[in-house]
Amino acid sequence: MNPSISDETLQLILSKIDINDVIGEYVHLKKSGKNYLGLCPFHAEKTPSFSVHVEKQFYRCFGCGAAGNAVSFLMDIEGYSFPQAVQVLGEKVGINLHVPASSNTETQQKNEEKDVVLKAHHLAAQLFHHVLMERTEGIKAREYLEQRGFRLETLKEFQIGYAPDSWDFLVNFLEKRNYPLSIMEKGGLIAKSENEKFFDRFRNRVIFPIWDTQGNVIAFGGRMLGDGQPKYLNSPESLIFRKNKQLFNFHHARQEIRKQQTTILLEGYVDVISAWQAGVSNVTATMGTSLSDEQARMIRRNSEQVILCFDGDQAGIEGVSRAAEVLEKQGLLIKVAMLPSGSDPDDYIRKFGAAAFRKQIIGEVRSYPSFKLEVLKRGRNLQDEGERMRYIREALTVISRLPHAVERDHYLRSIAEEFSLSLDALKQEQLQIYRSEKKKEGRDKDPGNRNNIVRNEKQFKIKQLYPAYHNAERIVIAYMLRDKEVSDWLELKVGSQFNIDEHSALAAYLYAYYAEGHSPDVHLFLSKLQDQELIQLAAELSLMNINPKPSEKELEDYVSQILSYPVLREIEQKEEERRIAERQGDVLQAALIATEIIKMKQRMKS
Ligand code: GTP
Ligand code: MN
Repeated sequence: MNPSISDETLQLILSKIDINDVIGEYVHLKKSGKNYLGLCPFHAEKTPSFSVHVEKQFYRCFGCGAAGNAVSFLMDIEGYSFPQAVQVLGEKVGINLHVPASSNTETQQKNEEKDVVLKAHHLAAQLFHHVLMERTEGIKAREYLEQRGFRLETLKEFQIGYAPDSWDFLVNFLEKRNYPLSIMEKGGLIAKSENEKFFDRFRNRVIFPIWDTQGNVIAFGGRMLGDGQPKYLNSPESLIFRKNKQLFNFHHARQEIRKQQTTILLEGYVDVISAWQAGVSNVTATMGTSLSDEQARMIRRNSEQVILCFDGDQAGIEGVSRAAEVLEKQGLLIKVAMLPSGSDPDDYIRKFGAAAFRKQIIGEVRSYPSFKLEVLKRGRNLQDEGERMRYIREALTVISRLPHAVERDHYLRSIAEEFSLSLDALKQEQLQIYRSEKKKEGRDKDPGNRNNIVRNEKQFKIKQLYPAYHNAERIVIAYMLRDKEVSDWLELKVGSQFNIDEHSALAAYLYAYYAEGHSPDVHLFLSKLQDQELIQLAAELSLMNINPKPSEKELEDYVSQILSYPVLREIEQKEEERRIAERQGDVLQAALIATEIIKMKQRMKS
């Protein structure tokens, strides 16, 4: 629960907000009966299962189970914290949440520092760009970029700049404008020597500004004009820049990414800029690091599909696999555009031209499995029977990990055709591989070793049938959400003895919620939860179809199912022990266990 935002303010904001407006900015919604329907932004789907309940002011996806209210939606889709999300909503309805200065001086000071650092970055970007375009110091860099094929309009579009060969060019500039140098250093814009002297971090380098999703310059990448080390110098992590939370050029590409529902992920800044110049503008890249979950989520929030276009060499191939694993977890459809070995997109475009890049590379994407099958062939002499058989076996392993039968069938057929083999034999072999892999997986408890399919299935759990005790817990919580009396009664009868951890947690929050004097209000309750899983679960339960008013008998039945489940499990275990004892001929032991079981059953009845 958050101390800095009062319930009254929260309720006021939520009462003024229309969830349709909030979600409508991200999802195309169509009216369907009383509610609205659209494609879920949290998982890949072709038919809409994401519905927005106008009356109850919250959303739910029947495909992946995502659910919540306007606050949790923003938290999920933008990665905001709870207060951030509430603040953004407040701004939409004209309620300013100024956090009182006295209680939060530290945050306020940080925010002020951030503002100053952002302003300085904005200015520095303009300055470097000006030096490149207009000043004599910039001539060398202009020639370098021209020789690399950058057009003038591109230099402007990406605000590319040049940092002159000086230790104090930017330092002097900032000092003259009264920017506190120690804060500038904290913000990563300049550096400090061991004897506490400030100096320019970027010297004699081409400057590529890095923007955040809002379009603020938050860092720079600086490239040497020729060969040398380090080739690139990036701004360090700072209070405004976290490498693995940003994607290069994302704010600039976002519109096109959404329009095409496709993000093209490249490896380097220059590749992105070259591709843009070649007319492919839904392009982005990491800052030279491997893709993080957070970055993959950013991509997923804006598109269904991602195309990986890396250098065709061994490092590039490994890069594709690493990125694909991260992207798969977010449910993105992955395609691979293969470049000839040893060339990155920028090299390719310079050699073969923009049209070839668009048509032969981006226009000729393959599916990720087919990429994997292709990679398996590399460096192999398939004329040799032994090698061919090894290839086929490995290919079948790849195929056996595909989640959809149609997909598996497709690749099996293509292999059958390619090597003139019987489809039936291949199918059988593949099934065998699947079974033995599954066995291996079972033995392997380490979750990191399980393949993506398993993780995906878990993530997109669709409607499930629950065992009775589990269902009973869901139903009583659904009642508790609507009725304070039921909650009070359950607190006495069940307390924290729910069998499912999440249910215990929700119950604890509900007891606390009512104890604070609130009346039933799912909406308010949801906004007090900060754990996404709990929010989803609570939203889901509040939508359950249950009787308006439960009878006491009904509730008692549920409670008894909940409380007796652990005993039942214990009895089951004892039964098993008894059977083992009998099998081993230990009659006495078997009889002892049987008496225990009878006692347990009696205890359960009372
Ligand atoms: P060009 O050589 O200018 O075409 O750049 P490139 O993008 O082709 O370089 P490369 O493929 O070697 O690297 C891809 C990305 O890795 C770059 O865009 C940088 O983000 C990052 N990178 C490359 N070299 C360095 C380096 O020396 N230091 C750091 N910090 N990052 C680097
Ligand atoms: Mn390059």
